[in-house]
Amino acid sequence: MRRPVDIEPTRLSKKLPEDACERLRSILGVHMDIRAPGDAEEPILGLHVRQVLAQWMAEIRAADELRVVGIKPRANALLYGPPGCGKTTMAHHFAARLGLPMVVVGSEHLIGAFLGESGKNIAKLFDGLAVADTQVVLFMDEVEAIGASRGARTGGQCDDEKNSALTVLLRKVEEFNAGYFIAATNMPDNIDAALWRRFNMQIGIALPGADERFAILKRYLSPFTLPDDDLDCLAEATDGASPALLRELMEGIKRGLIVRPRLRLAIDSAPEMFAAIISATMPPPEMEVPKLWSRADTLKSLSRLSWPPIRMGAP
Ligand SMILES: Nc1ncnc2c1ncn2[C@@H]1O[C@H](COP(=O)(O)OP(=O)(O)OP(=O)(O)O)[C@@H](O)[C@H]1O
Ligand SMILES: [Mg+2]
Repeated sequence: MRRPVDIEPTRLSKKLPEDACERLRSILGVHMDIRAPGDAEEPILGLHVRQVLAQWMAEIRAADELRVVGIKPRANALLYGPPGCGKTTMAHHFAARLGLPMVVVGSEHLIGAFLGESGKNIAKLFDGLAVADTQVVLFMDEVEAIGASRGARTGGQCDDEKNSALTVLLRKVEEFNAGYFIAATNMPDNIDAALWRRFNMQIGIALPGADERFAILKRYLSPFTLPDDDLDCLAEATDGASPALLRELMEGIKRGLIVRPRLRLAIDSAPEMFAAIISATMPPPEMEVPKLWSRADTLKSLSRLSWPPIRMGAP
């Protein structure tokens, strides 16, 4: 019997001032994407990551008690793992649970063409946040663009620029006290050891297991539904798929159920509908190809699903 993945709904712990996002935008400039708590989605994560997140939230709420014993809640984390597994979604969810805006910056946008420019951009970002009147979750994506290992560099001018940018980043991460800092990377092996060590936590967001795939498929198939045994069968056939790919797959089914009849195409064959979707929806090249994409017998075996899915609440 499959255990439902226990997910806490995203909720705000305090109301964000109406124009806080606007004010942040004007302080930080155009390269930042500011995401409000209300737009956050709930990631479906493995037990270990959920526990780590729950512990982090609990210690933030117990800040006063921690201070009495001489420690503070942890203020930063490095998220690493394959693309489409929920690093950005998790950071936004974390910000939303704290009622804070998330400032999203791609590291590559901080790298400038002139010597010293990258370090200045990084300093401007952190200094801007330090004087902002709201705490934030600062989310730095693809942090390896600045934080790649110095050992792998060859010593050109471009490397000097990257080294000086990294030095500024290391200092600013240590000084940061404008909220929480979360960085993400798909390339943990490339991250500089000194930067790695600056993070209080290094959290691996791996490909989903069978229970998580089941919950993800169910969520993104809604408002259509399939019996649990059928979702189990699909979860098995999609071993190795990221949540983002599972979402594409289920949204493809929903799209097909609505659009195919207009094109006079049948919707009563699951293998046919899945074949149409996977022919145009591939996992990224560096990722494992799930059975459903690579084996004709797996596709064919979907003929035993109760098909088509039923729309909940339909007359
Ligand atoms: N764990 C998850 N649970 C539910 N949905 C997810 C999950 N992970 C990803 N998704 C879906 O896939 C989309 C892309 O995920 P997200 O951007 O968070 O991945 P990522 O790990 O940050 O990827 P990248 O490394 O490419 O930046 C999300 O908007 C969400 O719809
Ligand atoms: Mg991301």
